[in-house]
Formats: sequence, structure tokens, C-alpha cells
Amino acid sequence: NMSMHLYQMSSKLFGDTVGRMNDNLTSIVLAASVITLTLGYISKMLLKQSSGKDQKYPPYIPSSIPFLGHAIAFGKSPIEFLEQAYDKYGPVFSFTMVGKTFTYLLGSEAATLLFNSKNEDLNAEDVYSRLTTPVFGKGVAYDVPNPIFLEQKKMLKTGLNIAHFKEHVKIIEAETIEYFQRWGDSGERNLFEALSELIILTASSCLHGKEIRSMLNERVAQLYADLDGGFSHAAWLLPGWLPLPSFRKRDKAHREIKNIFFKVIQKRRRSGEKVDDILQTLIDATYKDGRPLNDNEIAGMLIGLLLAGQHTSSTTSAWMGFFLARDKALQERCYAEQRAVCGDDLPPLNFDQLKDLSLLERCLKETLRLRPPIMTMMRMARSPQTAAGYTIPVGHQVCVSPTVNHRLHDTWAERMEFNPERYLNDNLAAGEKFAYVPFGAGRHRCIGENFAYVQIKTIWSTLLRMYDFDLVDGYFPTINYTTMIHTPHNPVIRYKKRKQ
Ligand code: HEM
Repeated sequence: NMSMHLYQMSSKLFGDTVGRMNDNLTSIVLAASVITLTLGYISKMLLKQSSGKDQKYPPYIPSSIPFLGHAIAFGKSPIEFLEQAYDKYGPVFSFTMVGKTFTYLLGSEAATLLFNSKNEDLNAEDVYSRLTTPVFGKGVAYDVPNPIFLEQKKMLKTGLNIAHFKEHVKIIEAETIEYFQRWGDSGERNLFEALSELIILTASSCLHGKEIRSMLNERVAQLYADLDGGFSHAAWLLPGWLPLPSFRKRDKAHREIKNIFFKVIQKRRRSGEKVDDILQTLIDATYKDGRPLNDNEIAGMLIGLLLAGQHTSSTTSAWMGFFLARDKALQERCYAEQRAVCGDDLPPLNFDQLKDLSLLERCLKETLRLRPPIMTMMRMARSPQTAAGYTIPVGHQVCVSPTVNHRLHDTWAERMEFNPERYLNDNLAAGEKFAYVPFGAGRHRCIGENFAYVQIKTIWSTLLRMYDFDLVDGYFPTINYTTMIHTPHNPVIRYKKRKQ
């Protein structure tokens, strides 16, 4: 997402790094960085021990591996690691990975600290900016003081309105039908790959406008991929001045995409034509002091919009497909709902019908419970914080994990079952403010939720009308933890055209 999904795989980075150590020149630089980081870490540890003896710090999970700490166990299975720690230490605990100390706040109550905090105390830029700023560019998101970013979020939110969504439904339906033409009548294909490709197209149409969508060819798609490569563990952990090929590719892609966007923005500004879309909303928007956005800010926000919506929506849509393929009765009920709500002849979708597809909506909600794409939100403690009677010292990376909150055994009945009907019944989670937080909460909350619902519901309405889906020989994808967003492993699905 716009921000982050970032760090969770720090151990994966480490795996990568160690793996590459022997065979290239970067290894020397990497080794030097590791030594520097280690020295910094040791001096920090020494400092920590000599201060604040009367404070009660959160329970600390010991590790016998210096510096790396729990990176390997966490990287292999982060959710299991956190759940076991919860059982053993309670809702608040700390541990070290790659020289950084993480304090997790698990469960609704502990999460309150992070969601209600001020950005000056628990800071997002400190943890996200080194990843996002090279990708989105200067002047937006985590590169600017948070009050400015909040104004930018408000402008984006204005653009994500119902009038625009009504258009988006038609655009997304048409793109989906056209894209899946290549799938033919039946077969077995990689669903996640297809949805990722489709969603670049739909997100570009809906969020960037028709000019930029019309320029989206393979070359531009490659630029997006290179830019996206900037969200890497290397970028999170290693100094930005290192001459890594992936950094150079990212920076070059950034410049080229910006230039494409600048031309489109300038053309729009010059033409008298008032198109009613998000690009126009941004061109017309002003800060509270009356200053309009400049071209660089608009281009940065366009990049942010695309990337924020891309992986989050594509993984969610793919997981949803596998949950529906696994539960055929549920899939049939969703198809029946299409006919019941939209009419037996299944006419083109529209926004008002979409709202009435409540079973489909609950399926999406349940997918986001079990597979929230952002598995951890992070902040840097800039001042000492109190949670569950413990003092979290300055410098800790304070984290909340939607994935863990969404399946806490104290909160959720039959927690691992995919059951969209759970939201219709009385349930404990409904009474806990932060038990269900796939889009975050508080000042950093997502502004893309409504768009994501429109997009994913439209795609799945269209796909349910086209095909009947099955698992391939009963295989339900395992979770790939090595990607920053937890993607399905080997996501091949079986499909057959529906007889209408
Ligand atoms: C299924 C889809 C999505 C999910 C699950 C999701 C999740 C999240 C989460 C968890 C956060 C909070 C991050 C934090 O507190 O550190 C967030 C923030 C945000 N998201 Fe999304 N997102 C989704 C789609 C989108 C889309 C489509 C857009 C844009 C059109 C978007 C734009 C943003 C923005 C601008 C923020 C604000 C970051 C901040 O204030 O620090 N997201 N999202």
C-alpha cells in the first residue's frame, strides 16, 4: 500500500543478502553496512542498559543470535511467531530483528495506543519515508510534514466520490471482460498474475484518467514494475547512497514516469476541456492557504494512488477467488445473488446494484479478515509511550498487526473458518474497536477503502458471471511470506465458462 507493507520481511532481506554475499561486489558494501549497523546496535544496547532502571519495559523476547535476533523465525512465519509470543508474553512485547527493536501491540485494546497517537509521538515518516520517498518523489506523502499529507489525503478523498465510482464500475467491468477474453472457455491459470495485470489497467483508468491509461503499454508497465521494485527489503535496510542496480532502476523509472505524467497534466491544464475525474480533482484542488498543487505533487500523488491500490487489491481479489473456489456452495450463492439483485438476464453492472450485493460484500470483508494485505502497521516511538502498564522507550518501532488482531482466539469464534455470515450474528469482535482493522484507523487511515470495495466487487461480479471456479485437485494456496504483502503461493485456479 501507499506506505508500507514494508518491513515485515526484514529477515527475507537478510536471507537474500547472505545468499548473495559470496558472489558479487555489492557484498563488500553490504558487509560494511552490516558492520556499521552492528556497531550502532551495540552502542545503543549499552546506552539502553545505563538508563531508566526504574521504568518497566515491555517483556523482551530473548535471542541468542546477536544483531539478527529473531529475523529468521519471524521471516519464516511471522503470524505464528506473533501468536506464540502473545500466548507467552501477553499483548505487548518487544524483540530484536536486524538491529532494530520492535514492540508489538496485539489485540484491540493494546492497538489503541497506536491508532490514537499523535504523529509527533508515534511517527510514520521515520519508518516509511526511506521507502516511499524515492518511489513517489518529494513533496508528497511521508516526505512532507503530516499536516500537509493530511490535506493531500483530503484532496484524494474528494476525488474518490460516488459520481466517479459510478463511472468506475462501467470501466472496471469492461476492462475485466476484455482482459479475461484470453482465458477462453476453460482451463487452469495463474489467477493472481491475471488479477495483478488487470488491476494495473483498471487502477490506471479509474485513478489516472483516460490519457494515462491510453499510454499504458508494455514499456510503461515495465517502468511501473521497476518503480515498484523500490519497495524492497534492501531499500528499507541499506543506505540509500549504495549503488545497487535496483535503486538505479527505481530512480530512472521514477524520472521517466514523472515526465510522462507531467506532459499529461500540462496538456490537461492547457485544454479547456473539463473532464470530471480524479486527475481533474487534483488539478483543481487547493491547500487550506489557497495554494494549488504543483505538477510534481500531482504526479507524485498519481504514482502513490496506483501503487497503493495495486498490490493490496490484487492480492485481496486473488485470495477471495480461492476462498470462493474452495466453498462451491458459497460460490453458487454469490452467483444466485447476481441474478437476484441485478436481474436474471444479468445486465451490465451499476453502482447501485453493487451496493446491494451484500453476500459478495461479506465475502470480501471476510477475505480481508483472514488475508489483510497490510500485515503490519509501524511507527517510530519519538517519545516514551505507555501500553498495558509498560513504558515503550524512544527508538522502538511500534507495530500493530491486522492479521493477528483478525484471528485472535480471545475475540473470534471459529477464527480460522472463512465464514461471511459471522458478521450477521452477534460477535465479540463487533464490540472491540480495533479487532478488525484491514484499512487501519486514526490519522493514517486508508482513504482507498471505498474504491477498493467498488473495484473488487465489480471484478468478482464480472468473473462469477463468466466462470465457475474450482481449486486444482483440491489445492488451496499456502501463504508466501517472502513478499512484503502475503501473496498466495502457486495461485493456479481451474475455471469453466458458465452456461447462461
Ligand atoms: C484492499 C485494499 C487496501 C487495503 C487493505 C489498504 C490498507 C491500508 C492500511 C492498513 C493503511 C494504514 C497504514 C498505516 O496506518 O500505517 C492504509 C493507508 C492508506 N491507503 Fe490504503 N489500502 C487499500 C487500498 C488503497 C487504495 C486503493 C488507495 C488509493 C486509492 C489507498 C491509499 C491509502 C492512503 C493514501 C493511505 C494513508 C497513509 C497514511 O496516512 O499514512 N489504499 N491503507
